[in-house]
Amino acid sequence: MTNERKSIHGEWSNRLVFILAATGSAVGLGNIWKFPYLTGENGGGTFVLVYLLCIALIGIPVMMAEIMLGRRGRQSPINTMKMLAKDENRNQSWVWLGRMGIVAGFLILSYYSVIAGWALSYVFRTGSGMFIGASTDVVNGIFGDLVGDPERLLAWHTIFIVMTMVVVARGVKNGLETAVRYLMPALFALLLMVVAYAMTTGHFMEGVRFMFMPGKITNAGVLDAMGHAFFTLSLGMGAIMVYGSYLPRGTSIVQATMYIAIADTVVALLAGLAIFPIVFANGLEPGAGPGLIFKTLPIAFGQMEAGTLVGTAFFILLTFAAWTSAISLIEPAVAWLVENKGINRLYASMYTGIATWLLGLGTVFSFNIWSDKTWSIPYIFKNYSFFDTLEKLTFNLMLPLGGLFIAIFSAWCMREASSREELDTSRWIYRLWQILLRYVTPIAVIIVFLKAIGAINS
Ligand code: TRP
Repeated sequence: MTNERKSIHGEWSNRLVFILAATGSAVGLGNIWKFPYLTGENGGGTFVLVYLLCIALIGIPVMMAEIMLGRRGRQSPINTMKMLAKDENRNQSWVWLGRMGIVAGFLILSYYSVIAGWALSYVFRTGSGMFIGASTDVVNGIFGDLVGDPERLLAWHTIFIVMTMVVVARGVKNGLETAVRYLMPALFALLLMVVAYAMTTGHFMEGVRFMFMPGKITNAGVLDAMGHAFFTLSLGMGAIMVYGSYLPRGTSIVQATMYIAIADTVVALLAGLAIFPIVFANGLEPGAGPGLIFKTLPIAFGQMEAGTLVGTAFFILLTFAAWTSAISLIEPAVAWLVENKGINRLYASMYTGIATWLLGLGTVFSFNIWSDKTWSIPYIFKNYSFFDTLEKLTFNLMLPLGGLFIAIFSAWCMREASSREELDTSRWIYRLWQILLRYVTPIAVIIVFLKAIGAINS
């Protein structure tokens, strides 16, 4: 019976399209913007190691679980959880997992879009030759001018939200495939070119050492590494679940997950290898925060052969990568509105787009007119900017929590017969998956949470 469920939103035409779309969702600003600056802020080596462990032991099994739940439920995360809880004779409160995910996706997109706007604006800054031979001070100044100007940030944020909602309104299956099939490999090739440039700076090994030599890490750093494993693989909020709900039967979930996770990790590591040598060669700070790639890459593009062309193409492709990720952040909300509120995709996209745009204003202002304003969430966070509050709330709290409950539901609450049928893999892979989700994920998430509670608030 469950086998015959169909999604009202359609299906991917084949397995490759699913892998491409899910890779498109996974590879984004998380890999190229966030991974390097988190690595820098958290002191390098040990952070990277913990992140890799989290990908292998938590991220990969949770991704399999999310795809599996989606394919079994065939609906938006809320309705999927409702239906699966019923199938498995479990409490209906599991719908809250879907609800929290939809809220998390909406919150994340509101700031993701602002940062994607930075990438988009750098297409034009690089294209105009602004960075040719520019010193670190000039490059820093250009970044400072951009984020200090609410009007410009607002314009780019608006363009990015409109771009995202246009695709979502047309249905994620049209257009996404071509974008990912050609543009992802192109982004990969350009990253390799920047890595090649980084090798010529004379500081390549210093970058490598920073990334891979274990050192110190704080409890907050471990929480960042775990949060990032969820973020970079698009887990914990139902994005991959909803993509899984469009997945045809007979596709190996285990294999697809491995492709996606490997591609995602390789892109992040390359981004680090591209950026840290530039940081050290120019005497910059690895812990420069969210502006890191915008303060380092332009220096490289200003110096390398054909840098204007390479740099412009790079930021175009980075924007595309952000675009294919953004779509997956809002798709669960749109799918739910279509299922439950009886409105069509166009209106559902318009409403969610407007709401996301409005919330994004908070992030836009937090870099300029609200830069001194701080926000607190009682018992959770104190005195962070609007952007940091949203960021920490989703990244450090909602995603790991979502991942924890996905693990509990799929490994403890679902009958083995159901998950075994859906995963359809060898006995020992199934057991390994089950052990990781039953014990490793919950224990790891809980320990990291407990240790970090003190750290975040201090
Ligand atoms: N994974 C994307 C990135 O690395 C961001 C993203 C897309 C995401 N969908 C998500 C993050 C769902 C968390 C949950 O840029």
